[in-house]
Amino acid sequence: MYVCNCNGIRERQVRDAIAAGARRPADIFKSRACTVKCAKCVCDMRSMIAEARETLRFAAE
Ligand code: FES
Repeated sequence: MYVCNCNGIRERQVRDAIAAGARRPADIFKSRACTVKCAKCVCDMRSMIAEARETLRFAAE
């Protein structure tokens, strides 16, 4: 499934970027060597980043 249709970024690629240290949507775009265009995907990316942080927080407890 695509998270970013403008740049063809898939969900798996977003998760990989987050696992590699992306903390902002801009980091995800940078990891894919592209830039934000319409920005419709930014909220979804922020949610995925927050979800990953929550998962790590619970894992650390
Ligand atoms: S859907 Fe990601 S920039 Fe447009």
